[in-house]
Amino acid sequence: MGLTELFIRSLSPWTLTTIPLVFVVVLASTHTVIRLYDEHIRLRAPRVGKNPWIWGLWRSRAYFARNSKDLTHYGYDAYKDSIYRIQTGDMERLVVANSYLNELRKLPDTRLSSKVAVVERNLGWYNGVDIILKSTSHVDVCRVQLVQNLGRVVDGLVAELDNVFRLELTACFEDRADFYNASKTILHIVNRSIAKTIVGEPLCDRDEWLSTSLKTTVNTGMLTDRLRKLPVLVRPLVSPYTASGKALKEGLEVARRLLSEEITENRRRGGERTDILQWLIDRHDADDVGIQFLTNQVLFITTAATRSTAASIVHTTFDLLAYPQYQNILRHDIEDALMRSGGWSLEALHGMERLDSFIKESQRLNHHPLLSFNRKVQSSITLKDGLTIPAGTFISVPSYWAARDPDIHLNGSEFHPWYWFDLRSTSPTNLYWGYGRNECPGRFMAAVEIKLLVAWMLRNFDVTFPPGQTGRPENLFVDERVRPCPTQEVGFRRLR
Ligand code: HEM
Repeated sequence: MGLTELFIRSLSPWTLTTIPLVFVVVLASTHTVIRLYDEHIRLRAPRVGKNPWIWGLWRSRAYFARNSKDLTHYGYDAYKDSIYRIQTGDMERLVVANSYLNELRKLPDTRLSSKVAVVERNLGWYNGVDIILKSTSHVDVCRVQLVQNLGRVVDGLVAELDNVFRLELTACFEDRADFYNASKTILHIVNRSIAKTIVGEPLCDRDEWLSTSLKTTVNTGMLTDRLRKLPVLVRPLVSPYTASGKALKEGLEVARRLLSEEITENRRRGGERTDILQWLIDRHDADDVGIQFLTNQVLFITTAATRSTAASIVHTTFDLLAYPQYQNILRHDIEDALMRSGGWSLEALHGMERLDSFIKESQRLNHHPLLSFNRKVQSSITLKDGLTIPAGTFISVPSYWAARDPDIHLNGSEFHPWYWFDLRSTSPTNLYWGYGRNECPGRFMAAVEIKLLVAWMLRNFDVTFPPGQTGRPENLFVDERVRPCPTQEVGFRRLR
């Protein structure tokens, strides 16, 4: 008997099956690592910003957080027709030219995933954002029921608005003009009105719901920022003890209790409802989904909807004040549409075409993030021109700077209020709502809500910058987020 045979006979049957298995796994993993390494090496993309392999991950991230505007501007000017790598505040991204969009948008989610990118970038398994991987109903209700019922949603909002403005601009309703922090005030107005669409009455009027949902939108991002600074293995241990982690958990409990009471009460009351909560309930069998799941979904939609909508209204308000010469034209546009439609309605809002153009132009120049179409490559992609993007890559397109590119939009960085009115078409470079099959499903609702609130404001209030100020305040660039100046005050005086 040879030595090899003797050795084999001495092994137990368990070891005999495990060794080949381990061998196969090691071989397969090595092959994958070599292939990915090879693809990454062959993907010769120039780098913008600091290289984390040289400067370290934390320093490179911090450098991006402080210089995101200039870095992405440089990246766009240098590589707008090709690709470049950049370490952002979360992942390293491969920024690809807008010209790739038509090819990329056709790829299924199994190859290019928007949801996985959102969850991984936001560390979604700690703050509940991973709910979007567990069901698509939060998207389906926005895409189907919300759009089908937009007219009724607008009617519901109109019925609330006088009360919403009364609660947030109290001084004006006591016949005093007063100055308010624009971002905070508009955020509260939006929070109240969006609650009407998401959870309906009576919850949308309860302070407990309003403050819980608003706090959740802050704490979700705060927890992500906090955990990102920690090593991966430490995060699950620390997360429940951070201030934002604790606040999120408390908020979830309160929201769960309020929704649960509301659902029970509503079953007893009966009657038809026009809100996202009801449509979500309708999509799930009663036993199929727990209240916890529903609460997570409702809070996710609230987070996706509130701050972005408020920011767009604040930007538009700043533009209205920076270009006061257009205010009366817009007031006429609003009055004409209201007269033609016999009052506030979805039809009237559709008729406000100049206001529509003004808002879109404000959005063109004030994209919410610097980069858009953020996706994770799930399995290697080879595009028509031979570019191979390896699995695991996070890709983005340079939406902010493309929107200001004079080769795409004639006016470049200049504000032209009637640009969209004259153009009357959309182009793939308008990435304000994202792009492709994962484009924002709430965009029709958001567009209508923004228009309604701005039109209401223009019609009922005289809005001004503080005395002496004529120009728009500078936006704030935090990481890849673009925010309207958070300290700007504006004056509101009620018009009779
Ligand atoms: C100005 C306001 C808004 C902006 C700028 C905005 C923008 C976006 C963008 C860029 C995306 C990602 C799209 C992509 O990756 O291609 C997104 C996703 C989403 N938006 Fe909006 N949005 C706004 C308002 C709203 C509103 C009002 C709702 C709900 C009523 C909403 C619901 C959602 C949802 C549910 C998703 C995630 C979809 C998913 O899981 O894939 N958004 N939004």
